[in-house]
Amino acid sequence: MASSIPSVTPARLGPAFLGSLREVVGDVHLLTEPDVVASYAVDWTGRFVGATPAVVRPGSVEEVAAVVARCRDQGVAIVPQGGNTGMVGGGVPLHGEVVVSLRRLSLVEPVDAVAGQVTAGAGATLAAVQTAAKDAGWAYGVDLGGRDSATIGGNVATNAGGLRVLRYGDTRAQLLGVQAVLGNGDVIEHLGGLLKDNTGYPLHALLCGSEGTLGIVTAVRLRLVPPAPQRVAAILGMKDPATAVAVALELRRTLPTLSAAELMLRRGVELVCTVSGAAPPLPAAYDAYLLVEASGVDDPTPELTAALGAIGGVEDAAVAEDPQRIAALFRYREGHTEAINSLGTPHKLDVTLPNGVLAEMVERLPSIVAAVAPSASVWLFGHVGDGNIHVNVTGIPPDDERVDDAVFRAVAAVGGSISAEHGIGTAKRRWLELNRSPAERRAFSAIKRALDPARIMNPHVLVDPA
Ligand code: FAD
Ligand code: MLT
Ligand code: ZN
Repeated sequence: MASSIPSVTPARLGPAFLGSLREVVGDVHLLTEPDVVASYAVDWTGRFVGATPAVVRPGSVEEVAAVVARCRDQGVAIVPQGGNTGMVGGGVPLHGEVVVSLRRLSLVEPVDAVAGQVTAGAGATLAAVQTAAKDAGWAYGVDLGGRDSATIGGNVATNAGGLRVLRYGDTRAQLLGVQAVLGNGDVIEHLGGLLKDNTGYPLHALLCGSEGTLGIVTAVRLRLVPPAPQRVAAILGMKDPATAVAVALELRRTLPTLSAAELMLRRGVELVCTVSGAAPPLPAAYDAYLLVEASGVDDPTPELTAALGAIGGVEDAAVAEDPQRIAALFRYREGHTEAINSLGTPHKLDVTLPNGVLAEMVERLPSIVAAVAPSASVWLFGHVGDGNIHVNVTGIPPDDERVDDAVFRAVAAVGGSISAEHGIGTAKRRWLELNRSPAERRAFSAIKRALDPARIMNPHVLVDPA
């Protein structure tokens, strides 16, 4: 079946074809020099390394449509790419695909301050959208560590989650409409921003999380949220992960202003401190830490203090109320990604667990890994308020998938998801059947055939060719 996927052949990608792309985007925006395209061919973690004959950088939706049309006519596969911060090998050309980089579509239109909405080009960074919202007296509900590089188009394509899902929902919950070029060449646009609009299939919601397999998102319409200017954050020292999980889950019920609840463990915090040079967050070390944030219009500190007092289990706390100190506390959590990468190429297994087994699985996961890779190191952290744990494993070769297999099977066996927020990409495609039934996967394939009949859109990602 793999032969039905367009593969790049020298004939297809000869000078005539590249010339046709050059006609669309101009010489400057067709990159072919090997050392220039190399950075587009390796992912952020370094685990997924590919090669591409060309990176195309269109500057408008018309140019994207023309590039897609030329690739479709020649059966040339495309990998759409935004900020290249994805974690599952979905945004890099692992099979010699042409990379279509959306970074030039970076315009953030003026915020519609009355509606509380904004339209942004796919290549605008998440940080640029957040800043535009803030400057207009609003806020954007999604935040994540890769904000300065990750694009809003990439966020939509992966349905990115991040630090504030428990308060505002994931990217799909912010998305009111898209403009996109589908694999079949059609350009769809629904950017009016009506909050209630039951006029058919929500194509924007379908494209959100489709990981570039159905089309290329070129612009998005986003809802904004009221700002929550009063913030307090605290790193709480706990005696064990089970206590941290229990406190996080209970705060969701008792603290309406809760805006983040992030789990960290002793070894992870120590690693971040070693790599970054930061002092430990608390005078003594704890087996588990919970980073919590509460925010609102009024000072949320008394509410947070009362809620924590009622729950118990907190051994010590570092509390911050001004933006700089809050950012410093968040760095212990956000610093995990870079600190772990400094140890070598990690396997990044991003899973969701049902609340009922969350604490038990956080305890069990290291031994599940150790059973197949005794010398591997396991790093657990994540958005525990959503049941989302990042299981990072270092000390095993990038292509040794035994740990991935063991973790995904254990997670699926207890009703969890093998991808909480990063997507399936190429990294997890062989395990999709753990979470999706044959009927669901047939529906995926049918949608793929309808919107991308030539199978040129990220053909090695998410949807199985069979
Ligand atoms: P890319 O990596 O370029 O692409 C990702 C996928 O989307 C690929 O399949 C690609 O083909 C597709 N794609 C990209 N742009 C388009 C487009 N315009 N149209 C169609 N398809 C497209 N993710 C989270 O969910 N939560 C986190 O908390 C989080 N934290 C992170 C922290 C760090 C430090 C880093 C480096 C990454 C983090 N990520 C997180 C992962 C990553 O930032 C997200 O997956 C992000 O949404 C990817 O955006 P991007 O622009 O970099 O996409
Ligand atoms: C995070 O929450 O820090 C991100 O999802 C990135 C990662 O998993 O390292
Ligand atoms: Zn995350």
